[in-house]
Amino acid sequence: MATVGIFDSGSGGLSVLKELLKLLPRERYIYYSDSANCPYGDKSPEFVRRRASDITRLLLDKGADIIVVACNTATAAAISALRDEFRDTPFVGMEPAVKPAALGTRTGVIGVLATAGTLKGSLYLDTKSRFQDNVRIVERVGRGFVELVENGTFSGPEAERVCKASLQPLLDEGADRIVLGCTHYPFLLPVLEKIASEHCISLNGSREVQFIDPAPAVARRTALLLPAGKTAAGGVELLSSGSTEALERSFSFININK
Ligand code: DGL
Repeated sequence: MATVGIFDSGSGGLSVLKELLKLLPRERYIYYSDSANCPYGDKSPEFVRRRASDITRLLLDKGADIIVVACNTATAAAISALRDEFRDTPFVGMEPAVKPAALGTRTGVIGVLATAGTLKGSLYLDTKSRFQDNVRIVERVGRGFVELVENGTFSGPEAERVCKASLQPLLDEGADRIVLGCTHYPFLLPVLEKIASEHCISLNGSREVQFIDPAPAVARRTALLLPAGKTAAGGVELLSSGSTEALERSFSFININK
């Protein structure tokens, strides 16, 4: 069993940890939430790179054999620099799931919800340029989504109002596949699905909207890169640069909603 170091700006990366635990339940996990600096979405790439490097060093010092960057914004800003700096360490990052969305769409329009940092990053722009001849891609920043999740507001009128403001324009443009390009957003999936299903009903059921979360693919990639021959007792350790309250609340939420 190996030790997997995993980090995010906050508790969003637990949506990736959940998939890792399903696929690789016996490994040891050290999860680091940079909650003192959350959100990353509007911070400079230099700032996010510095944090990603410091957190990686901390996770390696604690025995991590592999690092999962469970944050689209940090992947966009820092994964190449991390691979250059820590040459002996395998890294797995988040990929915007544009490909499965492009393959699945029936309307020819796909929506992407992500942070401003991710949408501006070359990783996303390169992926987008590979598909935009065949499908129309419409984007929105999930404004306020990260704050909802960090506050433990996973449902209710406030979550619906905030989610609708970013999702409805994508639905109105005809998007029938929506990429969740931020690891916090899967926590809001029930709310997002409710808004999408109301939209589909308003179209007399002539459309079906699906949300795509890349976390299961990231877990499969981690399984492939996991170093063999390591020994560690399984379990999950939760660390944070700030309060661990949001982290523990979100961790219980993913356990309840298994
Ligand atoms: N969960 C992160 C992501 O996947 C970061 C969100 C944020 O801190 O703005 O992008």
